Amino acid sequence: MDYIVNEIGKEFFLIRSPEKELNRNIYLKRFISSDRKERVNMIFDPGTPLDYEALFKILKDLIGGVQNINLIFISHQDPDLTSNLKALLAANQNALILGSIDTFRLVSMYGISEKNFKGVETFKRDIVKISRTGHLIQFVPAYFCHFRGAMMVYDFESKVLFSGDFLAGTNTKKNGDIYATEESFDGISMFHQIYMPSKKALLLTIDRIGLLNPLPEVIAPQHGDVIKGNFIYDFLSRLTKLDVGLDLMSWTQSEKDNLIDAINQFLNSLKNLDKDIYEKLILKLKRVGEFTQIFSFKDDIVEDIKLTPQDSVDYIVRNLYEIENGSPSVSLLVNSLTNHGLIDKLPKFKFERKDIESPLE
Ligand SMILES: [Fe+2]
Ligand SMILES: [Fe+2]
Repeated sequence: MDYIVNEIGKEFFLIRSPEKELNRNIYLKRFISSDRKERVNMIFDPGTPLDYEALFKILKDLIGGVQNINLIFISHQDPDLTSNLKALLAANQNALILGSIDTFRLVSMYGISEKNFKGVETFKRDIVKISRTGHLIQFVPAYFCHFRGAMMVYDFESKVLFSGDFLAGTNTKKNGDIYATEESFDGISMFHQIYMPSKKALLLTIDRIGLLNPLPEVIAPQHGDVIKGNFIYDFLSRLTKLDVGLDLMSWTQSEKDNLIDAINQFLNSLKNLDKDIYEKLILKLKRVGEFTQIFSFKDDIVEDIKLTPQDSVDYIVRNLYEIENGSPSVSLLVNSLTNHGLIDKLPKFKFERKDIESPLE
């Protein structure tokens, strides 16, 4: 399947890889001076070796060749956007990489020299002028979305905000069009729930976008659909209400009390069913000298749980399987949790058998 190339704003091009579920979006901006004598070409999150052959041909059409890239912006350090850097620098040894210093600390491990890098924090202002053409761009932090030093860039000429992994999504829209529709938000929320650390990080980034003047007309993320028009406001306001990452791992005191009750009820039933398994399990759950002790006991009663519900239940299940004939006890545990309504309330629980040692192949 082919890469899609589309001009999403003035001289701002999307180069979209063809994967159905999670694609990569590379972007190219051609800054052209008003007298058309000067040109500066900037590429954003330039992809991976998987993209190189297609990128090589597309850049030949758009800018006369990969050697004509002057600026390379990287939103963060992930290999889905940085593993082409060495190849791009081989084509033009004078190309300059722009990104946060946190990002470059990791990206330099590819063997990239500091002379090819400028940290965006080292500019005097967040708005920077491309001297040769007179264009303005603004660097906008997206801290912890999803990397500590994640950055976005706003191009004033096209009013396109390149947002990196922020507002990126898996592809949930049925048609292959590049622009987001209502259907795109499912993929965006899934991506953010998995990769973003907390709602707080999202809110800070949303606020920074709201301070841009003028507001962006197009948001161009590194994966999924390009967002424009009313969908920008709509998706940003829906993201303010989305629980992601650590938010999904937090739980209320009553949920915790319920789980402790259910575990104690299970232990009590197990004691009546099979005293031998019960005693072995209690020994394992109380085991001292472990890196983390998940349960606090008073005598043989669980009083507190230190990690998440999922961790706690996984830990019991794993230990039951370490004890011979553990499986009937697992259904007892499931029954206890069901009787407390916990399985419905906390649907993340998984009760499939966890092998103690998973085979590699
Ligand atoms: Fe990433
Ligand atoms: Fe990414």
